[in-house]
Amino acid sequence: MVGASQSSQSAQRGQTLLLDGITQRYGNTLAVDDVTLDIKGGELVALLGPSGCGKTTLLRIIAGFMAQTKGHVIVGGEAIDGLPPNRRSVGIVFQNYALFPHMTVAENVAYGLDARGVDRATQRSEAQRMLDLVKLGHLGDRMPRQLSGGQQQRVALARALAVNPSILLLDEPFAALDKNLRLDMQIEVKRIQRLSGITTILVTHDQEEALSMADRVAVLSQGRLEQFSPPTEIYDAPDSLFVNTFVGSANLLSGVLLDADRSGGTVRLDAGGTIETRAPKGEVRPGGRVTVCLRPEHLRVDQAAAGADTLNGVVEMGLPLGATIVHEVRIADGSAVKVSEPRIDRAALFAPGTPVRLAPVAPRLASVFAAA
Ligand SMILES: Nc1ncnc2c1ncn2[C@@H]1O[C@H](COP(=O)(O)OP(=O)(O)OP(=O)(O)O)[C@@H](O)[C@H]1O
Ligand SMILES: [Mg+2]
Repeated sequence: MVGASQSSQSAQRGQTLLLDGITQRYGNTLAVDDVTLDIKGGELVALLGPSGCGKTTLLRIIAGFMAQTKGHVIVGGEAIDGLPPNRRSVGIVFQNYALFPHMTVAENVAYGLDARGVDRATQRSEAQRMLDLVKLGHLGDRMPRQLSGGQQQRVALARALAVNPSILLLDEPFAALDKNLRLDMQIEVKRIQRLSGITTILVTHDQEEALSMADRVAVLSQGRLEQFSPPTEIYDAPDSLFVNTFVGSANLLSGVLLDADRSGGTVRLDAGGTIETRAPKGEVRPGGRVTVCLRPEHLRVDQAAAGADTLNGVVEMGLPLGATIVHEVRIADGSAVKVSEPRIDRAALFAPGTPVRLAPVAPRLASVFAAA
């Protein structure tokens, strides 16, 4: 390959990336707390978590802009902790994609190659090749201020790819784009990533983006790794109350665990009725207080005669959202439960004040965690 491979370590696509017990302190702030992530070669991993949970800090550590307090960054089996950024085979698109305003688009893309001592002619041809890849081959002579936000974003991506990285780091690369452009860019990045096989970490706080783009999602909260799983598991089998409520939405109901084994549990809800659940997570024994997470789409509202062993309530509000109908139902413990159902016809919309019964669409969909 031409490009960065001429200078420092020769870039190999599809390298494994192991973050081994990474901890980062800023004074008294514990920004990253003992995070271990074992990322496969060619994998696209999304780092998902709320603002301030340590996502950018982790990327800066991988790229070598900051030395971690503890732990190791291991690429292709070799620790790279001692290497400066330009000797790491890592391309990064920063959170604000900061292009250099005084350089042309082509110079921006060639920047990393220049920093790696690549000759001028190769810099030019590689920059052109990368701009073609992101479909901006005709705009190399423009200045960044003469581009739209989406075009600037693609230049930043071309700049990160130009160094022929074995690891690509993208920090909220689509945050500034409108919805349509964002979808175009998501598809584009996924396509380039698949074609090139570059091991990629995509930082986002947008759960849909994480679930739709990633092979695996790492959910972070307050510097700690909550779960690292494929998107379907993150959504359907969350490991913690945090993941269950951060990804998708959930009604939280309290109750007492009656019994449980590996395949599921039974919970008596404070609001009345019992419910069959997934196997409880964490330290909880029969008789213990638990929190049940019920997703709105896992419930149905019906008017059938309410038995003692069901969850009863009164409709507060019905929202016909088009293809779905959402009801908010006040239940016996005073809390409001949201139910989201596919719309069949207008008869499915209940008026405020209607007494109803809530039933799960299937058993064992709800998650259970030890009460906090
Ligand atoms: N240079 C710094 N000095 C001190 N504290 C910092 C520094 N950089 C980040 N922090 C703190 O470390 C924590 C993690 O910050 P980080 O930028 O990694 O979060 P993030 O997950 O990227 O958030 P966002 O989604 O808002 O970009 C935050 O509490 C932040 O205030
Ligand atoms: Mg950030």
